[in-house]
Amino acid sequence: MKGARILLGVGGGIAAYKAAALTSTLVQRGALLDVILTAEAERFVSPLTFSSLTARPAYTSLWDVPERIPHIRLVREAQVGLVVPATANLLAKLALGLADDLLTTALLAARIPLILAPAMNEAMYENAATQEHLATLRTRGYTIVDPERGYLAEGESGIGRLADEERLVEALERALTPQTLAGTRVTVTAGPTREAFDPVRFVSNASTGATGVALAREAARRGAAVTLILGPTLLAPPSGVTTVRVATAQEMHDAALASAAGADIVIASAAVVDWRPVNDSPQKQKKGEQSIDVRLEATPDVVAEIAARKEKGFLVGFAAETQDHERNAREKMHRKHLDAIAVNDVRDGHGFGTGENALVLLWGKNGRKDLGTASKETLAARLLDAIEELRCS
Ligand SMILES: Cc1cc2nc3c(=O)[nH]c(=O)nc-3n(C[C@H](O)[C@H](O)[C@H](O)COP(=O)(O)O)c2cc1C
Repeated sequence: MKGARILLGVGGGIAAYKAAALTSTLVQRGALLDVILTAEAERFVSPLTFSSLTARPAYTSLWDVPERIPHIRLVREAQVGLVVPATANLLAKLALGLADDLLTTALLAARIPLILAPAMNEAMYENAATQEHLATLRTRGYTIVDPERGYLAEGESGIGRLADEERLVEALERALTPQTLAGTRVTVTAGPTREAFDPVRFVSNASTGATGVALAREAARRGAAVTLILGPTLLAPPSGVTTVRVATAQEMHDAALASAAGADIVIASAAVVDWRPVNDSPQKQKKGEQSIDVRLEATPDVVAEIAARKEKGFLVGFAAETQDHERNAREKMHRKHLDAIAVNDVRDGHGFGTGENALVLLWGKNGRKDLGTASKETLAARLLDAIEELRCS
């Protein structure tokens, strides 16, 4: 997002105020925004709000800009255009190719990816005219970020609420990212598992799933069809990814095997608990005893079973090690028949639950790439770069 040139169109709907919040988010991420408001949008929010947030002029008219042809310059300078909120009226005008103000004229003159985020009353959204305009715009290559169901300004609940900000940012990120994984199916496993020994207690580990969530998000940005098999975590799964929530190692095993069967790339980053209690008591165990014995048995080896059934695809495992990292990880990679393994040092609390991590990718007899120490988002991008390179070699 840093340095990205974005053209933001603001339509005359109640959700126009959210376009201001989005502008602030994008500016904080380093994007350079030019904002065009329709005349009706100005009734809801002031251009001053946007010019203050972007430290650039906010545009409202074809005619009062001190330059000759602003609509052409604005779309030529931008890498992507986004309309928030896209009113029913704007959808109709764009579907018809009308160009009677600065925003619609600029959008008609655009040769960049365009994203529309409709927001309106449920009846307006469901109206056949609006739906037909949306279908037309989709076939013409516009990306539509569908509205959500929820509270609407008129006090009702229904479909028509502007998509969540995370979905809007993700749509922009996708439009700005080279689609190097288009047509590729990617499965990512992430998070811990929980193995219960009574209804309120379980064996688990410190994984938060952040690495896998970042990998799934980055693969989706690159155009892959991503399935994320996600263990218990408080992290929200990324938008645009099919997420399967699981709790136990057995559930992780079943979901991962089903998804991995047709995948081109499988990244097994989940920290699957290796042992589970043999007895899962149906009743909460009473505290009375000073100590209790819990007998553990091995859980299924998810990544080894994916490897055993693999017909195609590139399988990357993860190793969290506390000693002899690379030797242990390479041995694990060979024993489990993985194509590559990403190893991290989890001594002294590193790796789990922290924003940063350090990863080394190993493959074959001697293949090694140090991906460095960085945020989990940056490491996800570097790991996918390395995987893409290895698949091509
Ligand atoms: C209070 C109020 C709220 C409105 N909210 C919306 C809305 O959320 N979505 C929408 O499509 N139209 C909404 N409208 C209707 C638009 O403002 C109207 O269709 C206008 O012509 C849109 O202009 P524009 O598309 O050029 O921005 C609203 C109108 C009023 C008076």
